[in-house]
Amino acid sequence: MYLVRLLYVSKVVKGFSTHDIDALLHTARQHNAQVGITGILAFNGEYFMQILEGDRRAVNKLYHHISTDPRHEQLLLLQMREIDERLFAEWSMAYVPISKLTRDLLLRYGINEDFHPLQMSSMNCLGLLKALSERFQAPKQLT
Ligand SMILES: Cc1cc2nc3c(=O)[nH]c(=O)nc-3n(C[C@H](O)[C@H](O)[C@H](O)COP(=O)(O)O)c2cc1C
Repeated sequence: MYLVRLLYVSKVVKGFSTHDIDALLHTARQHNAQVGITGILAFNGEYFMQILEGDRRAVNKLYHHISTDPRHEQLLLLQMREIDERLFAEWSMAYVPISKLTRDLLLRYGINEDFHPLQMSSMNCLGLLKALSERFQAPKQLT
């Protein structure tokens, strides 16, 4: 067993809205809990940014599966690396809606206050997601 972290961004397809996120998260959380995957998903109505942490095989398998999901496209794999410990161990899949992508955090890690993952380095994406998880630490708030 090797513990890894995978980070990618993707663009949502037309027709998918923030209302559809509940169903997606429900399936994701159930499945991730079964296979020991944790992580975080941010979505602003246009882009997804997701981190998957867990066993190397399980993370690979899930990423390949997610990459064929018709609800998003233009997947860009930003990082896949072995890690000593998880950053998001408390969440089978934490969710960050647009309302929590606040101006100060976007400016700290991005070029401007827009959430535009394609213009962010993998380090900045990771920094942003980590800061978000720390700010909204209670799993109840960041569910
Ligand atoms: C942006 C995005 C993130 C997703 N994240 C996960 C996830 O973390 N875990 C998961 O099991 N499915 C996730 N899914 C859903 C999978 O792509 C897939 O629909 C789900 O695993 C059910 O697969 P099945 O219909 O073949 O059973 C995600 C889908 C999208 C579009």
